[in-house]
Amino acid sequence: MSAHTICLIEGDGVGHEVVPAGRRLLEATGLDVAFTSAEAGWDTFTREGTALPQATLDRVRKADATLFGAVGSPLHRVAGYRSPIVAMRRALDMYANLRPVLSQPVPRSRPDIDMMIVRENSEGLYIGQEHVSADRAMGERVITRRGSTRIAKLACGLAEQRQAAGRPGRLTIVHKANVLRGTCGLFREAAFAVAEGYPALEVEEMLVDACAMRLVTDPERFDVIVTTNLFGDILSDEAAGLVGGLGLAPSANMGAEHAVFEPVHGTAPDIAGRGIANPAATFAAVAMLLDHLGEASTAARVRRALDDALRQGPTTPDLGGNATTDMFTAAVIEQLD
Ligand code: NAI
Ligand code: MG
Repeated sequence: MSAHTICLIEGDGVGHEVVPAGRRLLEATGLDVAFTSAEAGWDTFTREGTALPQATLDRVRKADATLFGAVGSPLHRVAGYRSPIVAMRRALDMYANLRPVLSQPVPRSRPDIDMMIVRENSEGLYIGQEHVSADRAMGERVITRRGSTRIAKLACGLAEQRQAAGRPGRLTIVHKANVLRGTCGLFREAAFAVAEGYPALEVEEMLVDACAMRLVTDPERFDVIVTTNLFGDILSDEAAGLVGGLGLAPSANMGAEHAVFEPVHGTAPDIAGRGIANPAATFAAVAMLLDHLGEASTAARVRRALDDALRQGPTTPDLGGNATTDMFTAAVIEQLD
């Protein structure tokens, strides 16, 4: 039996290109892993009437970790369709979404940025409780003390770990409690209560709009940001734009028992099928997955190889180069030490 089982879910669009590239890289590391694969997404929905089959959830549950591509969602309401990644996060109680934002060795990246955005992944405005009539649409935003407390604990733990590795140990609690006194007020209160247990950390708060601006004006000052679901979704895409864009940004969905790793980007319908999607975000997600499996030295090898390949080029077109997905994947594998 292999040491680890990894479930692969390509999803839709460029998921069919970047996830196989991630598999190639994993195989090239020589690590003893077994793969299973499962389906999810819009194509699955049109074929099977569900975007997230039970068999997929079962395979993710059985695997030690999952690598996920991206899934397409229509912008209008389609009866029976719910975004499978949102549904999977809830079904497996993966309450944390971790999005590292690190300066990259590409011309489009700003220097000296090293932060972790910790986004609450299971509640907030994304619970899907929307009530719609002809002329009025309403969405529920649920914030709980339990949800806020556990995400704040995770964020404080990460800030502490990063501090031990030389980072400043600064936690920024991001909310909009001046307007959303009930929901954001509870999140803020719970987060500060947790932070009291971490006296070595420098804890601050920031309103989400101010944070959006500070991310652009002085991103170097941030270390760990903790925030609610929608705010975290938006701020993390913004932050990805500072360090080379969506083609490079990885994320992890974590719960107490399950973990799903994915590039931050979506299905990229404008380039899907052309073989030019940047697999780097998926490779960075693979490195996070390896860390999660306890394979830190292999994770470090993957990060070094990715770094070298980005530095040397050619990169994919989103970064200004002319490499295909396959060429860039081969270049990263070539750099593996
Ligand atoms: P997107 O991330 O798919 O694309 C935004 C832009 O970034 C496009 O110009 C695209 O070409 C580029 N891009 C994205 N990934 C790239 C890559 N690997 N290499 C090079 N360029 C890349 O976001 P968009 O267009 O807003 O959404 C498209 C679809 O993806 C929608 O159906 C949306 O619902 C879905 N989506 C799914 C996500 C997920 O599965 N977690 C996350 C975000 C969007
Ligand atoms: Mg997003």
